[in-house]
Amino acid sequence: MVEIRPDRRTLIETAINQARAGAPRLLCINGASGMGKTTHLRAAIDAAVGFRVLEASCDEVAYRPAYGLFERLGVPPPVTDRGTPQEPAVAAQSLRRVIEAEADGPPLIIAVDDAQWADSESLEALRLVLERAAGDRLLVMVANRAVPGREHTPWPQHNLDPEAVTG
Ligand SMILES: Nc1ncnc2c1ncn2[C@@H]1O[C@H](COP(=O)(O)OP(=O)(O)OP(=O)(O)O)[C@@H](O)[C@H]1O
Ligand SMILES: [Mg+2]
Repeated sequence: MVEIRPDRRTLIETAINQARAGAPRLLCINGASGMGKTTHLRAAIDAAVGFRVLEASCDEVAYRPAYGLFERLGVPPPVTDRGTPQEPAVAAQSLRRVIEAEADGPPLIIAVDDAQWADSESLEALRLVLERAAGDRLLVMVANRAVPGREHTPWPQHNLDPEAVTG
């Protein structure tokens, strides 16, 4: 039986309700290996009844192609006429189109697990979208484990730290 601490459950439910009401939210789930990041991510997705869910997890691989995370999320990765990856600002527009495609439909969750292994282009594009998101019914959740050499620029806003998860 998975039990999420009441204060964290409140944090998750508040974020879901705000996102549903058109205030885009970001929940960062940070913690060491095995501390419950994936468990929190799943619990939040389960709690977000009625949301459309785009989810992906990233793998520890030697070669990390640009926009690999976007492909896993089902967001078309932008390429130039010569097939090379576009700038993150262009990829951000692709993601905006996915968000806006169902603007009148259900609210949207974008959930990224093991973001420490995500390609930097996707993360930058996601960050650009978050910086300008306004009025979208959008909840983004990013689970991340600190790995030396793979630090991300700190995400703005909320920090849901499952360091003290009780099972
Ligand atoms: N709140 C909880 N209640 C019960 N079991 C839990 C809870 N949180 C985590 N666990 C259990 O602890 C184990 C590790 O959890 P989880 O896979 O979510 O951690 P993680 O932080 O995602 O790990 P990793 O860094 O390896 O991805 C799992 O077996 C999970 O079922
Ligand atoms: Mg995990």
